[in-house]
Amino acid sequence: MQEKLKIAFIASEVVPFAKTGGLADVAGALPKALKKLGHEIIVIMPRYYKIDKTQLTKLPEPLGVPMGSMGELWAAVYTTMLPNSTVRIYFIDYEQYFGRSGLYEENNISFADNGERFVFFTKAAMQLCKMLSFVPDIFHANDWHSASVAILAKTRFVHDFAHAKTVLTIHNMQHQGIFHKGLMNLLEIGWEHFNSCEFESMGGLNMLKGGIMHADAVTTVSSGYAAEIQTPDFGFGLDGHLRAHSQKIYGILNGVDYDEWNPSKDKYIAKNFDVDAMKGKNVCKRALQKHFGLKQKYGVPVIGFVGRFAEQKGIGLIASVISGLLDMDVQIVMLGAGEKWAEGFFSHEAYHRENFGLHVGYSEELAHQIEAGCDLFLMPSLFEPCGLNQIYSLRYGTLPIVRATGGLDDTIENYDAKNNSGNGFKFYEASSDALYHTVKWALDLYFGDKEAFEQLRTRAMRAHFSWEDAAKNYVEVYRGI
Ligand code: ADP
Ligand code: GLC
Repeated sequence: MQEKLKIAFIASEVVPFAKTGGLADVAGALPKALKKLGHEIIVIMPRYYKIDKTQLTKLPEPLGVPMGSMGELWAAVYTTMLPNSTVRIYFIDYEQYFGRSGLYEENNISFADNGERFVFFTKAAMQLCKMLSFVPDIFHANDWHSASVAILAKTRFVHDFAHAKTVLTIHNMQHQGIFHKGLMNLLEIGWEHFNSCEFESMGGLNMLKGGIMHADAVTTVSSGYAAEIQTPDFGFGLDGHLRAHSQKIYGILNGVDYDEWNPSKDKYIAKNFDVDAMKGKNVCKRALQKHFGLKQKYGVPVIGFVGRFAEQKGIGLIASVISGLLDMDVQIVMLGAGEKWAEGFFSHEAYHRENFGLHVGYSEELAHQIEAGCDLFLMPSLFEPCGLNQIYSLRYGTLPIVRATGGLDDTIENYDAKNNSGNGFKFYEASSDALYHTVKWALDLYFGDKEAFEQLRTRAMRAHFSWEDAAKNYVEVYRGI
C-alpha cells in the first residue's frame, strides 16, 4: 500500500464559511475527497469579519507572524470541521486585515493593502503548521493569494519544511496579485528573487508569476484551460512564462459536491426531483416564476443566469442580445452582481419587460432555485477556467448554453440531432449573433421536438463529475513531485 500524504491546503475562501466564486466551492470539497482517499489534510483560511467566531473553537496559543520591517504580528487561530467531514479547518484571525465586510474589496474597489494582507495570511498558514507540528509533504496553494508559499517553503521556512513540495492551483489567470515591489520586504525572501523570471513584472511584484516559477507543480482547473493559458489570448501576459514551465502544468477538472448540488435532496428548492422522478421540476419552475413575478406557465421556457457580472462571464454579449431574446416566447431570470454598468443595464431592462426577472446581489438560496426551476442555463463566458454552474445545471436538468472555451468546452458536448447525443448547446465565436442563434436553436428544440429535448435533459442529468476522480488526479500530481 502507498503511504498516505500530509497536505496543508491553503485558500482565501472556503464554502460554507466565505465565498465570492467557484474557488470556495473547490476548497470546501476537494479536501474532503482527499481525506476520503485516506490522506491527512488540514485547510487554512482567513477569519473574515462575517465568519461567526462563537461557532468556532479558539486555540489557546496566539500565533506570531514575521512581517519583515513591520516586526512580528500576533494573530489568533480558530478551528472547526468542514461540515459533514472529519477535515479540520483553521482560521487566521487578525482584525486589522480581515475584519472588513468584503473579502478582497468594497464597492468594486480592491483593498489597497491586499498584498500585505495575503503575504501575512500565507506566512501565518506556514507558522500555524509549525505551531501544530504539522509538517506537510505538500503545501497546496490556490491562486495568487497563497502563491508565495512556493518560495517561502524554499527560503524563509526551508529549515522547518525541508521536504515539503508545493502545488499551486490557478483558478483564474486574470487575477495575478500585482503590487508595489516594496512588498518584497514583507515577504523576506531576498531581493535576488525580484527579477523577470521570478516575481518582477513591469516594475511591480507579481505574486502569481513568482508562484508559478517556484511551485513544484502548477495545476489549473480543466485541461482546456491548461492549454489556453499558454497562448497570448488567455495568458494575461504570462503565457510565455507558462510555456517556459509547461512541463509541470497539469489540467484537472473540478468535480461537483453532490451533497450540496443535488435536486434529489436540495434543501433550498420548492420540491425535490430526480432524473427518474421529474414532477418536482415543474413545481420548482412555478415557484421560480412566482419569486420573480413572472407569469406562472409551464409551457414557456425559462432561461437562467447565475454569476459574477464581469466581462469574463460574457455579460456584454448577454446585454447585446437580451432585448431580442425577450421578444420571443421565453422568460429570462438573472442573479448576479459586479460591474455597475451591468447592474444598471439589466435593472433598466427588468423594469420594462414583464418576462424578465433580476436579482442584483448574492443569494445562495436563489442560485439553487434558478438551477432547479429553469429549462436552460446561459453561460456565454469569454474565458472560463472550469465553470461550475454549467455542471450544476446538468444535474438539475437545466440544459446549458455555453461558449466553447476552457472548462465549458471540456464539460459540455454539443447537441447532435443526427446521433441523438450531447448534453447541451455550444457556440464558438464570441459574438452576439452566435449567442442569439444558439439560444434560438435551443428554443426551437424546446418547442419543436419535446421528445428530443427530454432525452437531452436525461443525458445531462445522468452525467457525473466526481470529486473522487479529481482527487485521485491531484494525488498523482502530489506523488509525481
Ligand atoms: P467563478 O468562480 O468564476 O465566479 P464558477 O462557475 O466556478 O465561476 O463558480 C461560481 C460560483 O459562485 C457558483 O457556485 C455560483 O452558484 C456562485 N455564484 C456566483 N454569483 C452568485 C450570486 N450572485 N449569488 C449566489 N451564488 C453565486
Ligand atoms: C475561478 C474560475 C472558474 C472556476 C473556479 C473554481 O473562479 O473563474 O471558472 O470554476 O475558479 O476553480
